This record gives sequence, structure tokens and C-alpha cells, in this order.
Amino acid sequence: MYRIGLVYNEPKELTAADKELDPRSYRQPAIIADYIEEAFITRGHQVKKIPASLDLLQDIKAAGDLDVIFNCCTGINSKREQANIVALLELVDIPFVGSGLTAQATALNKANANAAFTAAGVPITAFQTFFSAEDPLNSDMTYPLFVKPIQEGSALGITADSLVENEAELRSQVDYVIDSFKQPALVEGYLPGREFSVGILGTKEPEVLPVTEVIIPDKYGTDIQTVTVKAENGVKRVCPAEISPQLNAEISSIALQAYNTLQCSELARVDIKLDADEKPNIIEINTMPALEPGFEHYPAMAAAAGYSMSDLVETLVKEAIEAWKLKAV
Ligand SMILES: Nc1ncnc2c1ncn2[C@@H]1O[C@H](COP(=O)(O)OP(=O)(O)O)[C@@H](O)[C@H]1O
Ligand SMILES: [Mg+2]
Repeated sequence: MYRIGLVYNEPKELTAADKELDPRSYRQPAIIADYIEEAFITRGHQVKKIPASLDLLQDIKAAGDLDVIFNCCTGINSKREQANIVALLELVDIPFVGSGLTAQATALNKANANAAFTAAGVPITAFQTFFSAEDPLNSDMTYPLFVKPIQEGSALGITADSLVENEAELRSQVDYVIDSFKQPALVEGYLPGREFSVGILGTKEPEVLPVTEVIIPDKYGTDIQTVTVKAENGVKRVCPAEISPQLNAEISSIALQAYNTLQCSELARVDIKLDADEKPNIIEINTMPALEPGFEHYPAMAAAAGYSMSDLVETLVKEAIEAWKLKAV
């Protein structure tokens, strides 16, 4: 029996404008926390739910003796604070599930993550950070291009207009991203092929979960996982993906390479898309993949590998405790 501190965040009050930019994900951590609590209780573990606030460290102390912290908190004020929460957890002398601060902070800034993947030789498309809509385009960047916020998730800021075919479209979309999300825009080479997502589970000997193909139904009129597609849970998920053994091996290897490059722990999910030559390229790594059953890829991939939700959360906790024992004090 484990005594588990379940750190999560309650949805904050949002303005109508906030809701338009982020229609659903702001309340997801609280939904996920309920599923995780139930999954642990079914197996006889003790769960103390700790909603994150500025008193987080005090509240963890007040929760009494804990064997492990299960963290599904994406921040207090904004999802960009995911790494800040992990930074606090690293100060507490209790194992916690998930990657440490360095991996989280690198993954959250997609340009930094892309630079790390490039340096490590993970296949990736060309990319450039735009701090202003007037920045000159680098010579290795050729249309069509793809524009997204440098530091968001849940497809925030991703629409059919993210795909840009010429300079006027590029400038306009970069301007939209910088203005709406108050952060630089990341511009990448457009990857036109099939899309996949891959879960990794474990720390010492990470397991690659069955690859999922992510298919956007025709009714959306795009092959991009836009904010609308994501909010409506509109994708068709094929897991295990119907692909050749060779492509499966290439995709799995990219996912594992990305995981190891950032030195992730316990779990992550890697998004991958095929380029014009049908070669897989990494899109991003999610160091805190959402675990909402029925809605998210990660629990579906774990299920395809034989893990029920209870198996999954128990495995994550065991892995976190094992990894913790190997850490320097
Ligand atoms: N370089 C790219 N080329 C083509 N499509 C892309 C590219 N980058 C992202 N996408 C599309 O946009 C979606 C969201 O992008 P992603 O970087 O994964 O953001 P998020 O963190 O919001 O999931 C992807 O699932 C994919 O459909
Ligand atoms: Mg993604």
C-alpha cells in the first residue's frame, strides 16, 4: 500500500476570451486527478489530494507521511507553469512521478527542445523562432511553413491558418500568435504526411507503448490537429497503428531518442509526423501527457500494451520510487 500525495490544479476562473483560446484543457487536471484517485483507491492505496496553490510546499508537509507524489498539475495561473511546479517538487524529499525540472523546462519551450533534438540527431524539420512578425526568414526555411506558439499545448494557437504558403500568410500568422499568446512564434517546415503519437513508460528501461496513428476526420477540412479538433476530441485514433514494421521501428526509435535526449523520467508522449518523403520527424515531446481515459492518447496506448488505468498509475509510482533510489542525495 502506497501513501500518495496527488498534486493537481483546480480550474481557475476564466474570461470569455480565455475560454475561446483554451476551450477545454484548463479544467482537465482536475478531471484527471479524479480518475487517478479512483485508480489508486481500487488497488487499496491511500490518496491525499493536494490542490496546488502558493502554499503548495506547506500543503505537502501538512499531508503527513507520503511515499510518493503523483503530479498532474499544469500550473497555478497558467499552463506555462508546469515546470515551476516540478521545480517545487524537487525541493521536497519525496519521490514524484514525472520528469525533473530540466526536462520539463526544455520541453515546454519548443524551440529549445528542437535545438536539443537537432544536436542529438533526432530527425526534425527546419525551424526558426520569430520574436516579431518583421523578422527576416532564414534561407533554409522554404514554404509551406507551419506557425505555432513557442510554448503552448492542447493545440492552443493551432488552426488551419497555421499552415502558411507565402510571406503574407506567414507574417499575418506570426503576428496573430505573438499578439494573442504574448510569446514568440515558432515557425517550422510543414510536414504533410501521416501523424503519430508514441507513449514512453518507465525510467531505467523505458518501454515504448504501441504507436498510435492520429487521423483527422475529413469533416474538419484539414489534416492538422487544430484547437477545435482537440477540444472536440475529434481525432480518430488507430492503436496499434497500421504501419510497416520498419516505419514502426523508426517511429519508436525517434520517440525513445527524444525521451533520452531530454533525460525524461517515468512517462512522456512524443508527437511525430511524416515529411514529404514519408520519413518520420519529431514534432514535439509532451513531458506531462494528459492521462484522461477515453480522451487522451497516452491511456489508450497504455491500454493497448495491457495496462489498465490502475496498472498504469501503479507502474508509474513504482518507477518513480525506483528511480529516486538511484538519485544522488
Ligand atoms: N511542423 C509541422 N508540420 C505539420 N503539422 C504540424 C507541425 N507541427 C505541428 N503540426 C500539427 O499541429 C498539431 C499541434 O502541434 P504541436 O506542436 O503538437 O502542439 P501541441 O503542443 O498543442 O500539441 C500537431 O498535432 C500537428 O497536427
Ligand atoms: Mg502535440
